[in-house]
Amino acid sequence: MTDLEHLKTDALTRIENAPDAAALEALRIEFLGKQGSISGLMKTLGKMTPEERQIQGPLLNGLRTETADAIAARKAVIEDAELEARLATESLDLTLPAPEAPKGSVHPVSQVMDELAEIFADLGFSVATGPEIEDEWHNFTALNMAETHPARAMHDTFYFPDVDSDGRRMLLRTHTSPVQIRSMVKQGAPIRIIAPGRVYRSDSDATHTPMFHQVEGLVIDRDIHLGHLKWTLETFLKAFFEREDIVLRLRPSYFPFTEPSVEVDVGWQDVNGRRVLGGDGDAPGHGWMELLGSGMVNARVIEFAGLDAQEWQGFAFGVGVDRLAMLKYGMDDLRAFFDGDQRWLDHYGFSPFDQPTLSAGVGAKA
Ligand code: DAH
Repeated sequence: MTDLEHLKTDALTRIENAPDAAALEALRIEFLGKQGSISGLMKTLGKMTPEERQIQGPLLNGLRTETADAIAARKAVIEDAELEARLATESLDLTLPAPEAPKGSVHPVSQVMDELAEIFADLGFSVATGPEIEDEWHNFTALNMAETHPARAMHDTFYFPDVDSDGRRMLLRTHTSPVQIRSMVKQGAPIRIIAPGRVYRSDSDATHTPMFHQVEGLVIDRDIHLGHLKWTLETFLKAFFEREDIVLRLRPSYFPFTEPSVEVDVGWQDVNGRRVLGGDGDAPGHGWMELLGSGMVNARVIEFAGLDAQEWQGFAFGVGVDRLAMLKYGMDDLRAFFDGDQRWLDHYGFSPFDQPTLSAGVGAKA
């Protein structure tokens, strides 16, 4: 055997037997590195006569190529084996419980909105939405609150400097009532919707924040009367507070968009008589709590929204979602709702698994 054949047999055997990537790399350097034995032989080509080179050139080139190919092949084998070995040790037991990890919670406002959607879905209501950046026509005018109407001034409205393409002033909606208009204009009659969402007023203390939440209710159909309103609110509040002894008191009131208008107080009855929800019900005159505004939709509002008020009637109501949450779950400062304090959220938040359902009770489980 020539020296070259010796070198080749030696190289290929050792490459074939290299146990791991590090050993293989050492061999690559030994043979093909700058100072490597095969690289050294390649350099001798320059000193050969043309005749010698013609014979030695192809032999050395072949040796170099074969060695490089052998290293590449061995490298693939080693890498495959290493991957197999790693996969064999890395097993994943899907039956193990999930590791402890920080969990988010559902904000009481979201939870109550889900409860409302669940309760009203059962009564055939769907959920409607409208923009928080409104125009004054939807927020006021179409709700029978003309430019000069004194009720407008009571709303502490945030106005934008701009007007829209119809020349209407833009504002942050002060209530969810404009969704009544948008729903009538868009879907016509009949209608059964609730519209939960954010509303804005320039007002701030322990029970008022510049942003808060309301839910609007609207039913438009033929032959709707006050009895439907009372039954609907009673059914809703019994389901929401999860008690059968809820009693309502309807007081005459005034809202521009309803006629007649009623303010609804709620209380509950026990053996001692009427008590305020969560309050000092034994004190005389303390048995009722003012909860929501409602009434029969004013015929003018129905006409503003483009429906025939001779054919269609309805009722509407509006209630503060934050207030509902405070009453049901016992918080006393509204401002804390929007502080984003982790401790408050941990305490008052709900598990994402706590989906309100009518069958299991819409209230949260302990
Ligand atoms: N939009 C009223 C408010 O913000 C609440 C309200 C009262 C809504 C009576 C209604 C209603 O739909 O009929 O203060």
